[in-house]
This record gives sequence, C-alpha cells and structure tokens, in this order.
Amino acid sequence: MSDAPQPGCEQVIADGLSEPGWVVVRDFLDPKATAAIEAMLRTRWESGALRPAGIGRGRTFQVRPEIRSDQVLWVDHEAPPAPLGIYLDRMEALRRHLNEQLFLGLNEYECHLTTYPRGSFYRRHLDQFADQARRQISTIFYLNPDWREVDGGALRIETEQGIHSVLPEAGTLVAFRAADYWHEVRRARRLRLSVTGWFLSRPL
Ligand code: OGA
Ligand code: MN
Repeated sequence: MSDAPQPGCEQVIADGLSEPGWVVVRDFLDPKATAAIEAMLRTRWESGALRPAGIGRGRTFQVRPEIRSDQVLWVDHEAPPAPLGIYLDRMEALRRHLNEQLFLGLNEYECHLTTYPRGSFYRRHLDQFADQARRQISTIFYLNPDWREVDGGALRIETEQGIHSVLPEAGTLVAFRAADYWHEVRRARRLRLSVTGWFLSRPL
C-alpha cells in the first residue's frame, strides 16, 4: 500500500455525492496516519474523555441510550489533537473540491471522535433534521484494523438499490447527503472507533 493519498479520491467522492448521493472509499488516509488517530482515540477513551452522545442540540439535547449508545468527544478546531491534523487537512481539501464541483456552499466541517463500546448501537435515523438543518454531507472515517463481520457494528444505509452494509474497517470513509439517507449502526460486539463529521452550509 502506498503512503500517498489515493489519487483522485476527492473526485471519486464528489462523483458519488453527485449521483447517487453516497459513496464509500477505502484507504482515505495512509495506514500509518489512520493508526495514529486510532491510538490517540484509544488513549482518550481509556482516560474517560468521551461522553454519552445525545439526540438534538442545545436545549433539545437528550441522552437516549435506547436510541444511541455511542460516546463522543467533539473536536476543537482551534486546537485539534495532533494526529487529526492530516485528516482535517484532507477534509478541508475535500470541502473546497465539493464546493467547486457540486456548488454546495459548504463553509465548515464539524466532527467528533466516536466510540461504540461493546454492545452499543445507533438506531435508524437521519442526520439532517429540524435543529441540524445546516448539515449537508455526513462523513464517517473508521479506525479499527481487522474488523470482521462477526464483530457486528456495520453501518447500514438505505440506498436507492436497497440496504448497503459497510464494515467499519480502518481507512474506510463513507460520505452521504445528510438529508437523504436513513441509516443505522448495528450493535457492535467490540469497541468500535471512528471520526464522525458533517460539512455544514452557512448559518441560515
Ligand atoms: C452518526 C452515525 C454512523 C457510523 O453518528 O450519526 O450515523 O457508521 N454514524 O458510525
Ligand atoms: Mn447518522
């Protein structure tokens, strides 16, 4: 496997988001960069830095473990953890590319580090809803090497062609139009690690 980013990866993602509206790419970062993010997230998880994820935002925020039982740590873009630098640079390049190709007017990327402890899941949902109206494109970047089918934790996206299942394998990036795709995370049978983020449009 080469250390260089996959040539044309931004274009593959732009094409997929244009039609049909979702895309899965492997080796979005080189394995060393991905492993460094994984190690950083494991350390933060072990030190108790992540918090139960919720539904809604601001005053509507609620922790509802029967709906989602993952834990998150929002990334401070002013002072991101060092290993995330490469990832955030790639997302910035992708944001510019998507704006040039798809005229989406994306002006920000927000993301959190995510863990699904053994036994956790996220029921079927949409990422864009009333109080998350700025979310245009959802992205999930997976960090676990050697994830197997028996480990559970698949992302299931309801596509035009039926359900598409994605194993959360290190280096894989999934992106889809946030308003258009129902999806769920099946129960994980071991600790599942990822970076989950959204390209946002301008504040309304
Ligand atoms: C989410 C989500 C999918 C995944 O956090 O909104 O749907 O595969 N995550 O982690
Ligand atoms: Mn989601």
